[in-house]
Parts: sequence; C-alpha cells; structure tokens
Amino acid sequence: MRMVLRVPAGRMVGRDGELGRLLTLLDDAAAGRAVVALVSGDAGVGKSRLVGEVSRLAAARGFTVLSGQCAELGDSVPYLPLADALRGAAQATGVRDALSARPALSRLLPDAGDGPRADEDRSGLARQQMFGGVLGLLTELAAAAPVLLVLEDLHWADASTRDLVTFLSRMLHRERVALIGTYRTDDLHRRHPLRPVVAELQRLPSVISVDLAPLDPSALAEHLTAAAPGRLDATELNEIMARAEGNAYYAEELLAALVDGDPAERRSLPAGLAALLLSRVEQLSDATQRVLRAAAVAGRKADDELVRAASGLQADEYEGAVREAVTHQLLVPDGTEGYVFRHALLREAVYADLLPGERTRLHATMSSLLSDEQRLAVPGTAAELAQHCLASHDIPGAFAASIRAGDEAERLGAPAEAHRHYDQALALWERVSEPDKTAGMARGKLGLLSAANAAASGDVERAVHLLRRLRHALADSDGRAETGAGDASLICRIGERLAYFLMLVDDAKANFEAIEVARETVEASPADPPTWWHARAIATYAYTLLIEDGVLAGEWAERAAAAARAAGSPWVEADALVTMGFLSNRDGQNDEAIKLFTAAHKQAREAKMIGVELRAAYHLARAHLERGDLGVGAAVAHEGGKRASHAGLSLAPFGLDLQHLHFQCHFADGHWDHAQQIADGFAVRVTSIAEAYLSSMALFIDVARGNPAVAERLAWIRRFWGTHGFDGFIARGLLAEHALWQGDTELAITEATTAISVSSEPPWGYHPSVIRPAAVALSARADRAIQARAAGDHEAESAELAAAADLRQIAREGAAYVKRPKFIMGPEGRGWLARAEAEYRRASGDNDPEAWQAVLDAFGPAYVYETARTRWRLAEALAEAGRRDEATEQWQLAAQAAEKLGARPLRAALDDLARRARIGTAPADTADGAALTSLTSREREVLRLIAAGRSNREIASVLFIAPKTASVHVSNILAKLGAASRTEAAAIAHREGLAAEPSAR
Ligand SMILES: Nc1ncnc2c1ncn2[C@@H]1O[C@H](COP(=O)(O)OP(=O)(O)OP(=O)(O)O)[C@@H](O)[C@H]1O
Ligand SMILES: [Mg+2]
Repeated sequence: MRMVLRVPAGRMVGRDGELGRLLTLLDDAAAGRAVVALVSGDAGVGKSRLVGEVSRLAAARGFTVLSGQCAELGDSVPYLPLADALRGAAQATGVRDALSARPALSRLLPDAGDGPRADEDRSGLARQQMFGGVLGLLTELAAAAPVLLVLEDLHWADASTRDLVTFLSRMLHRERVALIGTYRTDDLHRRHPLRPVVAELQRLPSVISVDLAPLDPSALAEHLTAAAPGRLDATELNEIMARAEGNAYYAEELLAALVDGDPAERRSLPAGLAALLLSRVEQLSDATQRVLRAAAVAGRKADDELVRAASGLQADEYEGAVREAVTHQLLVPDGTEGYVFRHALLREAVYADLLPGERTRLHATMSSLLSDEQRLAVPGTAAELAQHCLASHDIPGAFAASIRAGDEAERLGAPAEAHRHYDQALALWERVSEPDKTAGMARGKLGLLSAANAAASGDVERAVHLLRRLRHALADSDGRAETGAGDASLICRIGERLAYFLMLVDDAKANFEAIEVARETVEASPADPPTWWHARAIATYAYTLLIEDGVLAGEWAERAAAAARAAGSPWVEADALVTMGFLSNRDGQNDEAIKLFTAAHKQAREAKMIGVELRAAYHLARAHLERGDLGVGAAVAHEGGKRASHAGLSLAPFGLDLQHLHFQCHFADGHWDHAQQIADGFAVRVTSIAEAYLSSMALFIDVARGNPAVAERLAWIRRFWGTHGFDGFIARGLLAEHALWQGDTELAITEATTAISVSSEPPWGYHPSVIRPAAVALSARADRAIQARAAGDHEAESAELAAAADLRQIAREGAAYVKRPKFIMGPEGRGWLARAEAEYRRASGDNDPEAWQAVLDAFGPAYVYETARTRWRLAEALAEAGRRDEATEQWQLAAQAAEKLGARPLRAALDDLARRARIGTAPADTADGAALTSLTSREREVLRLIAAGRSNREIASVLFIAPKTASVHVSNILAKLGAASRTEAAAIAHREGLAAEPSAR
C-alpha cells in the first residue's frame, strides 16, 4: 500500500479568488436570488476540492447541501448524479419527507419504500414529471433553508441530466437555491455534447463561469510541502513542480511516487496517472496515435517536419491525424513550426507506453534526421541529438554530440548545461574507441572543462568533487597519454583549480585541504621556463594562505606577481594584486587596498580574464561599500554584475557576490525602488545554495518593507540551512528583525542567537559580523525588560538585563576583532555597534537621547534607512526625556524617510510611537465603532491597552505618563462607556473592533 500522504486534511491553497466568487453566490442564493455556477478546468486541477470547500462552508451557513456525481461510462444511466445527490441527502428528515411526497423522484432511490425497484426500467418516466418533481423539491427545501445542489463531472453526464441542468437554470428564479456544476475542459472536444449546453447556459444572466487555471507555483509548492510526509528537498520539489505544471492531482501523484516509489522507478509515471492520460489517447485513430508517439519521442515541443518524417505517414494522412490530436486537445499548435503536448505528463505517458524496439527505432530515425549540418547549426540541436543517440544506443554518436553540445553551451554562456554535456561525454569515454581523437582532447582536459563549468554555474561542490577524483585518477594512470597524465600543465591546472574552488567552499576543513593541494601543486610543477600556469598556481597558493598566515601569504603573492611578469601573464599578476589588496584591507590600509584592487581590475579586464576581473571587481566594490562610499561601490558592482551575467557567471562565486553588493549599496543609500528591482530578480524558489544565498540578501528589503515575499523566501531558504555548510546567517539575522517588527521577541532572540553563534571564530572570538544580530537581540531584550519593569516583575527584569549585558559584550568583542587587530571597521559596523550600546541603555531604563544621537553620527546620513530607523528611537528617547519639540522634529524626519522608502514596519512603529507619546501625526483610527466616539484619542490609546490586559502601571510606561494620570484616564473611560469594570470596557473595545494594542516597543 502506498504511504499515506497528508493530502485530504491539507489546507486548500491558491484559490482565494475563486472561493470568494462562489461564496458571494451563496450569499445571493441565501438572499433569494437563485444562481448557477459552472466550474471548469483540466482533470485534476482542483475543481472537486474547491467545490468541496464551498459545500462545507455552505453547510456551516445552514444550507441544505445535495451533492451528486456523474460517472465515467455513466451516460447510459439517466439522472445518475441526481439520484446520487438525493441518496446522499435522504438521511435528513426534511429531505426524506419532501422526497416521499414525490414518487417520481423517490423512484430514483433504490430503497425508497413504495415505488418500483431501482432496477426497473426508468427510461419511460415522464420527463415533465421528473423535472417538475426536482423543481418542486428544491423549492420546498429552499423554503426551510437555502439549498446548494452540486452536480460534479458533467462532462460525463447523461442527456437527461444535461437537459435537467438547462431546465433548472431557466426555471429557478427567486428560490433560495444555488446550483454548481463542474466539468473537465480537457475532455470537452469539439463535438462533445456538453459543449452546446455550456454555451447556452452561459448566455443566461444567472449563470457564471469559474474556470480554474493551473495553481500558481507558490501555491503548489505550499501544497506539496504540506502534503509531503517528511522534508521535501528543493530539487525534488522543483522537479515535481516542473512536471506537474500547476496541476494539483498530477503533483500529488508524482509526490506519492517519489515518497514510496522504488528509487529506480521514480522517473516513471505513477500507474494511475499514466492510465488516466493514456485512456484519452487510446480512443483516437491509428494514424493519430502514430503521430503522438513520434511527437513524444521528438520531445515536449515537436517540430512538425520531424514528427511527420518520424511518423512515416503520407502528407494528407498526417494532416488529418494532427488535426484529430488537436481537436481532442492532446496537442496544441505552438508557433508556426510545430506542436506541444497539452501537458508535459501526457508526453511522458505516451513515451513510456512505447514498445522497446519501437522507441529505439524512433530515436534512431530522429538522430539521422538531426545529424545534418544545417540542423546542427541551430543551437540546442546537438544536445537533442545526443539524447536521441543515447536512447537508440548509438554510443559514439552520443559521445560526439555531447562534446559538441558542451562546447556550444559554453560559448552561449550556459555553464550548467555545458557541465552536464561534458559530464555525459566523460561517462561515455570508456565505451568509445579513440575517444581523445573524437573529443580533440585528453580525458583530464575534458574533466577540467566539466568541473570549471560546474563551478561557473554556481555548483562549486560538484567541481571540487570532480577535480578531486580527476587528480587521483591522473596519479594512478601510469602515464597513459589519452588521460593527459604526461601533461605537466594539465596536472598543474587541475591542482590549482581544485585548491581555488576548495577556498570557495564554506568550511574550514576544505580551506585547509586547499592549502595542502596548492602547496603540492606549486612544488610539483616546473618553475622553468616561466609559464602562466605555474605563476597562477603560486598566486592561488598565496590566496589559500590568507586564511592562515598573512605574512606568508603576502610573500607568496609577491612571488606570484614576479612569476606572472616573467611569464608575460598580466592577468595572473592581477590575481596576485587582489590578494595583496586583501591583505592591506585587513591591516587597515584601505587606500592602499583600493589602489591595488583598482589596478588588478584594470589589468584583468585588459587581459580579458573574466574570472580574475570579477574577483577584483568584487573586492573593489566591497571595499568601497565597507567604508561607506556607496555610490562608487554601487557603480563597480553594477558593472561587474553585468559583465558576469554576459559571461553566464551570474551564479558563479564572484558573479553572485557582485549582484548582491550592487543591491546592498542601494539598500543602504536609500534608492529602494532600484534595490527592490534587483532583489526581485533573486529567485524565491531556490534550488541551490548559490540561489539561497541571493534570496537571503533580498530579505534585507523584503523585511524592511514588510513585503509578503518574506514568508515564501524563508520557506525556501530554510531547506538549505545546515546543508553543506550553508548556515543561513544572513537569513536568520533578518528573520530575527522580521520577528521583532511583528512584536515576537521570543523568535527574534532565538534566531539572532543562532546567527550570533555562527559568527564565532574559536579560538579568536567573534567576527565583526556578529554586531548586527547582537544589536537585534538587544533590541528584543530591551522591549522585554521595559515590559517587565512596567509590570513590576523585578526577577524578569534583571534576567533580561543580564542577557542584554552579555549581548553588549558580544557586540563589543566582535568590534574589537581580536584576530585582526589592525582592521578598521566601516560606518555600518560602527553604526550597529553604537546601536547595540544604545539598546543596552534602553534596556536598563536609561534611554539616553545622546546614545541614539551617537548611532546617527556613526552611520552618517548616507545610510538613509538606518538613519530613519535611528531617528525613531531618538524621538522616543527625547519624548521620554520630555524634550517634545526635538522629539517631534526627529519623528517627522523619520516618518518622511519611512514614507519615501516604503518602509512599512518602521512607519507602523512610528505611528505607534506617535499615538503613545502624542507627537507627530499618526493617522486617526477610522475603524473604531460608534460606541467609542465619545472617547478622546488619548483615551482610545488607553482603552486599547486595557483591552490588552495591561495594568495602570504598564499603561503609564507605554504612554509616557504618570501612573496617576493613567488611572484617571481609566476612570473616565469606564464612565463614558458605562462600563462597570475594566473587563467590561475591554469587551466593548473588542466588540467595537478597536484593534488590539500594537506590540509594546
Ligand atoms: N487548491 C488546492 N489546495 C490543496 N489541494 C488541492 C487543491 N486543488 C486540488 N487539490 C488536491 O489535488 C487533488 C486533485 O484535485 P481535485 O480532485 O479537486 O481535481 P478535479 O479538478 O476535481 O479533478 P477531476 O477532473 O479528476 O475530477 C486532490 O487530492 C485535491 O485535494
Ligand atoms: Mg473532480
């Protein structure tokens, strides 16, 4: 038995609009305007689920729900769905009585007391009597309670049922009745008998149509994630989503196959789904089936000419067959040149149904049709050819085509594909005679190409894995020429790349391995005559040494630069310069660093070495950002990101970083519409660590704007936490901020604490990156300390204070950066450190405006959002100190900035502050009910807090007033509302919709 999926209990996703429309119809029906809705969509798209939800809600609203189903092959049984509906409802007394008064109807029920038995021939029943009976029944039931009649799957309905639906739609008028019918669009071919009925119904004013489109990807992802019994890996999820194309049923079937299927069979369609899809194909003519089989082999998009040739049909026979396939909605014309299958899974089903010999023959036909230079010149053809060769067991053909496809993809800047093709060729290497001749290169070289492309596509792990194996294989190959073992340059390059990629893996062990490999490589390769590859091996060795020993790294970088000059390779020299710049930056010599990076960047660019150019651009942009030159940083990163993207390196290590640096510069300088545009380009449904990293960056703005994307981004990023050293540091820190904006101090502290632990570098202590999450956690602690103080809970207060002191210590330690004593922290680090200090004061009840002013000064005005955020706290501190005019001024500046940025959470916090401290211009509560009109705005604030269960002391603290004043307010409110107690006043507040108190900030 298949494992239980958590499907039926799952929440309905992605159908809010449709559900809303249908519920409005229920309202109409309940108000005495009879309505008919036709819900249509492809098989499995979710019609029954939606209608089921409507039925449930209708029953909850007191509707009598009658629900009947048509059955496949049921069109010879008249009134089958009606009988089904009545049978289901006959348990209810009202329905039973109404039925027994109508013998024509009760005869539809097998066990209806009197009346003839069910097996009696019913076709003789007078139609009039039947129709009249149904109408009378519905009218009678509707007099007692509104009625919902659901008739499912009308595409299978018998002629009488179709007529009945038309009749009811015309006759129902003022009855409290809603009729919902469903049917499958993909079954409704041109001559289907339901077609004219639907067309006629749609002309009636009481009839509306709800066509269900495929679920959108995020809804489907949510559904699958909820339905999967365990954690669903992002790659698997993505594959299911790609195959299911928004169809909930298909997705579930694929998921079930994945969950309990034999791993070897996961690629094949689940049996139930295949049978469903194939049943439609089997009804077609032989010629059409041949076309479909040929098209299935050709691919999802089938080229007309290829399919015709492969089908072996004559032109006119072929035309007719294609027409039939299109009429039955199996193929859909696509552009002028061909067709696509209506649904990807349909192709898979037809393909899987081919006999083995037939499949091989068709693939062989396709290969020979494609192996023509003119066709091969079209990009993508070589890749297709490789597939067809493989499937027709033509190994040499597949090998040659894979190499060609790899070259083509590399040229087109598609490294992921290039890697796949080269990898395929590598897998076939041993099965071809004289592979190095066909490939035009040794095996080692092909391996290196494959690995380099894997890294360029963002899959550094894969590159490392390949190169490690390659290195061992070459060492064990006894110098066979075909492997490339005799080639010193190749061996050196493989070692050098391995060391380099190991450095990019986020893991200390890999970094130490990198040093080892780099050292061995330098030692093993000849220094004389000077070569670029030897020089580069030295440069990379210097680069690996950065993590261990700065002095040694500097020495080797100098040596690398000299070797590069001797070999006449300025781009290798550029790489060494970047390393030297990095060292200067670390030692606090930022001008020198920028000079070196700039020179390296120029030199690499002139030498057209994109890899080194991007590394230099990254460090250059980062150095500018770090010291607060946001404009220059943005320009360098922008231009570098564009160059990376042209080269297909957007997700490759430095290409990826340039993209987010560009974003970060604009996030910092307040050009948020631009920043948002960049961030929106960072995929939400991430399938690799590289993408997850970018998506984490997008959270900066999505959190600060309170965008709904936050939840979805987090759901996808979360899958990667803890895999391959991806710690989610950025995402978790931002999740903490998000939680804080929502008043969830608990979650904020948990997430910030995790982020903090990631920033620890034993035995040295904390890295400066710890300051930000520490400040966020401090802010949460401050909120809690204030609340505890106001509630008079001294124990809680001192616990919060102790935790806050620890956090402040952590932030200070991060800023001291013991490991790099000469490092100079930029404005952002200094700003956050000052914020940590100010938050600590706020926690300890000594909310000093000067401390917030120091934060403002540390960031400087270029940091637009941080400035606004700080002014909010400054305004609060000033208000507490009774400096109202200054508070108002700061408040207004902050509000203007928040408004301009679209920083909604900050804006809400400012409004909250304005109400509490009575500064600024918070929007009035318009939603409050009439009973509250007698209250002043201040009193409403107090009432809000009463409703939240706050004591007078707490109210006083939140609103910056004396406890005595708070108690006066409370008495006045009780008097005005005529409430005998606080509880009663709270009840009135809730009833009148006075929003619950926004979080205490
Ligand atoms: N919006 C949704 N949210 C959650 N699950 C859904 C949703 N839509 C469909 N499903 C699930 O997908 C599966 C197929 O949906 P459903 O049976 O409603 O499709 P259908 O359109 O009625 O198909 P058919 O034409 O075969 O009757 C069911 O398991 C259902 O629970
Ligand atoms: Mg259904």
